[in-house]
Amino acid sequence: MFAERRERLLSAMGAGVLVVPAAPVAIRNNDVEHAYRQDSDFFYLTGFDEPESVLILTNQHPEHQTVLFVRTRNPEREIWDGPRAGVDGAVSKFGADAAFPIDELASRLPDYLADVDRVHYRLGRDRSFDDRFFAALDVVRRRARLGTRVPTEVVDPAATLHELRLVKGDEEVESMKRAAAVTRDAHLAAMRAARPGIHEFEVEAEMNRIFRKAGCERPAYDSILGSGRNATILHYRKNDRLMEDGDLLLIDAGCELDYYASDVTRTFPVNGKYSEAQRAIYDLVLDSQRAAIALCVPGKTLDDIHQVATRVIAAGLVELGLLEGDVDTLISDGTHKAYYMHRTSHWLGMDVHDVGAYFVDGVPRPLVPGHVLTVEPGIYIADDADCDPRWRGIGIRIEDDILVTEGAPLNLTAEIPKAPDEVEAILRESR
Ligand code: GLY
Ligand code: MN
Ligand code: MN
Repeated sequence: MFAERRERLLSAMGAGVLVVPAAPVAIRNNDVEHAYRQDSDFFYLTGFDEPESVLILTNQHPEHQTVLFVRTRNPEREIWDGPRAGVDGAVSKFGADAAFPIDELASRLPDYLADVDRVHYRLGRDRSFDDRFFAALDVVRRRARLGTRVPTEVVDPAATLHELRLVKGDEEVESMKRAAAVTRDAHLAAMRAARPGIHEFEVEAEMNRIFRKAGCERPAYDSILGSGRNATILHYRKNDRLMEDGDLLLIDAGCELDYYASDVTRTFPVNGKYSEAQRAIYDLVLDSQRAAIALCVPGKTLDDIHQVATRVIAAGLVELGLLEGDVDTLISDGTHKAYYMHRTSHWLGMDVHDVGAYFVDGVPRPLVPGHVLTVEPGIYIADDADCDPRWRGIGIRIEDDILVTEGAPLNLTAEIPKAPDEVEAILRESR
């Protein structure tokens, strides 16, 4: 699978060389490191999860197409940090045509950049690796007098690699379905666990237990569990409030499995029953989301989807008396952003906000089968909003992960209940 991806990328790239460094190790505090997670581009092309590695793909070398620079075997270090593939493993297990110790990068990288016109490398992502890359280019430049050709273009892999990542293959969709199934179990467990008198983090712990028990590497992003007015804070992450009777709990959480993200939001009442005001807003967000999901078909764009979601919400807010005026004008003036201030969709894949261009030639890109995107409208009414007090402090988002197919949209997270009666039935059973 990884070799096939490299082949496809090499033919999409044309003559040139791609350089992708592994994700750097990040220090958390003093000598403690953050849990390591490989760079998505690197993993997509290699399946190799060790730090201090560099991948070179080239169709300008007589023998090597795939070259890996890796940490060498080191019995003493391996006692502390675990086994390493080493140079031999990089060839025998990971399919490199050649592999070298990472310590030889400075001396060998120039050879791979010599007599090449175009290098695919993401400048600015990892400044310390930029320095090593520039140093290698400098070495090639110094050889120019002896007749070596020097690269004249450094191009962003977005145009090639990220276009491949944007369209998911069968095995990627399988991983995303498995991630969705675990995320379903976690959201169901959260619905059963949440109640007045416990903290948001206690529900988060329950979800993390399900993620890890199923073998997920990690949550795909920091889970958001916002109860009461915290549901109106878009990137709330403290998750430390004691929940009260009458609260809604907004949970935006998904696991990462096989390096693929799921990204799901559900919002439910911790006491088991939506209040009348909560239910009115909930129904509106759900109507908006359903209308938007229906548009996840080939030829439509994320802009089309956002427009429909926005229109349903703005019209509904007028009907409920939260906004006043002509719907078109409210939208064109941006007045609706008082309550719906984010976009409706983003690409989803190895990164929760996945790679791939949103616009092509200046216009929103049409969907094609294999695209995976979220649909996540919401309404957030601040607790000091200028409206009837009964609406204040209500925050609701509903988010699913949608695969575009030749036919109808495939909702990968459809099994996570969101119809309000169904949600209430689950809440009732566990109370
Ligand atoms: N959980 C991040 C997002 O919904 O975009
Ligand atoms: Mn989300
Ligand atoms: Mn999202």
